[in-house]
Amino acid sequence: MLETQLSHLESAALARIQGARSPEELEAVRIEVLGRKGSLTQAGKEMGKVPPEDRARIGKLLNAAKQALESAFESRQRQFDAQALEARLSAEWLDLTLPAPGPQMGHLHPITQIQSEIEDLFVSLGFAVLDGPEVETEYHNFDALNIPADHPARDMQDTFWLTGGNLLRTHTSPVQVRGMERLGPPLRMIAPGRAFRNENVDASHEHTFYQIEGMMVDRDVSVAHLIYFMKTLLTAIFKREVTVRLRPGYFPFVEPGFELDIQCLICGGPGCPVCKQSGWVELLPCGLVNPNVLRMSGIDPDQWNGFAFGLGLTRLAMMRYAIDDIRLLQSGDLRFLQQF
Ligand code: DAH
Repeated sequence: MLETQLSHLESAALARIQGARSPEELEAVRIEVLGRKGSLTQAGKEMGKVPPEDRARIGKLLNAAKQALESAFESRQRQFDAQALEARLSAEWLDLTLPAPGPQMGHLHPITQIQSEIEDLFVSLGFAVLDGPEVETEYHNFDALNIPADHPARDMQDTFWLTGGNLLRTHTSPVQVRGMERLGPPLRMIAPGRAFRNENVDASHEHTFYQIEGMMVDRDVSVAHLIYFMKTLLTAIFKREVTVRLRPGYFPFVEPGFELDIQCLICGGPGCPVCKQSGWVELLPCGLVNPNVLRMSGIDPDQWNGFAFGLGLTRLAMMRYAIDDIRLLQSGDLRFLQQF
């Protein structure tokens, strides 16, 4: 009786082992069959009821069934393990022959890039690159540049005054003064850096912007020298021959003072929206150094003269890269910066 029961139990259990669809299901079957309260374990407990002469035979059958089921569990478990391994290997597969993505590198800001190019150019022409303080004295920012006390540039609206009478420099021109004081004539210098004005910020005005001041003091410096250096500069920046013209312009520290225009690089002269149909684009103010400015910095204007210019670096970067909103430059937005 127990014999047939055993063989039914074994074949039913084998079928369930094969049919198990997951390791969890298999484990549940194992507990149901071989666990402490499992069906095969229960059958073993019935051995007491078996007549003594049959006990050895039935005992053997019971052990054989138990071993058969145990090894069936094991081999099914190995199948699951193999499947799991296979799934992992195919998911974690790595092609070591693919080129690795390079490390993410930063790069110089577009303004710094143009600044470096201009520095290199002027260094090759014998100019020193000078640095001056961003917090300036009223004397260096205004008085020594022949800007009289009642000049509108001193208006509170434009200048960030600091407590104690100093100010944030409103242009890089005070570095001319420091250059003349420190180095004396003959002098060739440029001074790149930040300037600050109390502006209402919009697409074309920033409170903080970049300029490059330039100055040459020597004997018999003329407007021809100025034009030569400016043309050399602009040809290098725009990487092509540019046509320039000078219009009169007023700045207290130069006499005569000019606005230097370049022929529009977009239309080449006839007129287009970029040059507002004029064929010319205003680019930089410049002039021959006012004798008062030389004198105030201890240089004899009867012996020496010079030219000076103030290049708006921020504006130049915007022109070169066709950037239509000045605020982007200091936004720190990587989507913008990564384009340069
Ligand atoms: N400092 C002037 C400004 O920021 C620009 C300038 C004009 C500089 C004429 C010069 C110059 O050296 O000669 O508006």
